[in-house]
Amino acid sequence: MANVKKIAVIGAGNVGATTFQRIVDRELANEAVITDVVEGLPQGKALDILESTPISGIDIHAYGSNDISEIKNSDIVIVTAGLARKPGMTRMDLLSKNAEIIQSVSRAIRTHAPNSIVIMVSNPLDVTTYIAYKVTQFKPSHIMGMAGVLDSARFKTFIAEELKTSKKDIHTFLLGGHGDMMVPIISHTNVAGRPLTELLSRDAIDKIVARTRSGGGEIVNLIKSGSAYYAPSLSIIEMVESIVYDKKRILPCSVHLNGEYGAKGVFIGVPAKLGKDGVEGVIELKLPVEEADALQRSITEIRKEISECPETFLSP
Ligand code: NAI
Ligand code: 2OP
Repeated sequence: MANVKKIAVIGAGNVGATTFQRIVDRELANEAVITDVVEGLPQGKALDILESTPISGIDIHAYGSNDISEIKNSDIVIVTAGLARKPGMTRMDLLSKNAEIIQSVSRAIRTHAPNSIVIMVSNPLDVTTYIAYKVTQFKPSHIMGMAGVLDSARFKTFIAEELKTSKKDIHTFLLGGHGDMMVPIISHTNVAGRPLTELLSRDAIDKIVARTRSGGGEIVNLIKSGSAYYAPSLSIIEMVESIVYDKKRILPCSVHLNGEYGAKGVFIGVPAKLGKDGVEGVIELKLPVEEADALQRSITEIRKEISECPETFLSP
């Protein structure tokens, strides 16, 4: 049974609206609200989605608003507000604009939904998650970022295509920051128990890793006017369902490290147990030296990105 009464989505663009639609379609709460600064946008999209519910047979109170205080008393808040990438832009190019937006949204979450669990989506992901943590001053278990589920799904897609096998039998984790420094954990990647290294050559694996690292950019270059949202929204839902149904799934998410993997005070993608209390644990995988080093380099890179975020955007 769902233990969540209300879910809020902030940002009614491509990712936000698609996520909202999936929340309504799956009846993940009794009440769902979507907000945006563009007049009429969240109201219109929410009404359209609400009008699908007599067909799907879903009873949920779903609505949109330009007033962010409508997120009041939400159990889960999903933040998709901000700019998306255009061709030629890196995720870090979004920082100057998105940091300010994330600070104002985080202040609103702190005021109106002080007990919520927050899932950050806006890029640059590991930095926006850190900003949300600093500004809301929520406990670390209530702040997390979505990226690893998406990156792992992309990796699985390309492995399945190469091996002509079902994606269901592929187990893998992509850790580290959501960017060029993401770390595919080949040592824990297997297809129905058979290590990937037994099934594909090093060269073939390297090509898949490279395509996964630039997976977001590949979609941006095709769509041109924006970035991916179908796989991202379903990745968010996988995390939301683990919380709503207290499934205690272990999913790669950007979470606060407090000594795990040798790092403190940084948010980065690692396997985390998600349940009704948010992040209920960080799982420390035993990694071979090469992968452990790659994760450390990714942590260093995220620290550098955080240091590039003006202090003023971190104040509550
Ligand atoms: P979009 O441009 O379609 O939508 C963003 C929406 O945010 C717009 O409707 C805009 O009006 C709204 N917005 C701006 N300021 C706001 C505020 N203060 N309050 C409420 N809404 C506000 O962009 P899209 O495609 O939905 O992407 C959203 C974000 O998610 C981007 O930063 C993108 O890079 C990121 N993203 C992250 C992924 C991940 O794996 N973490 C995957 C896909 C996208
Ligand atoms: C993605 O990976 C843009 O971060 C977004 O698709």
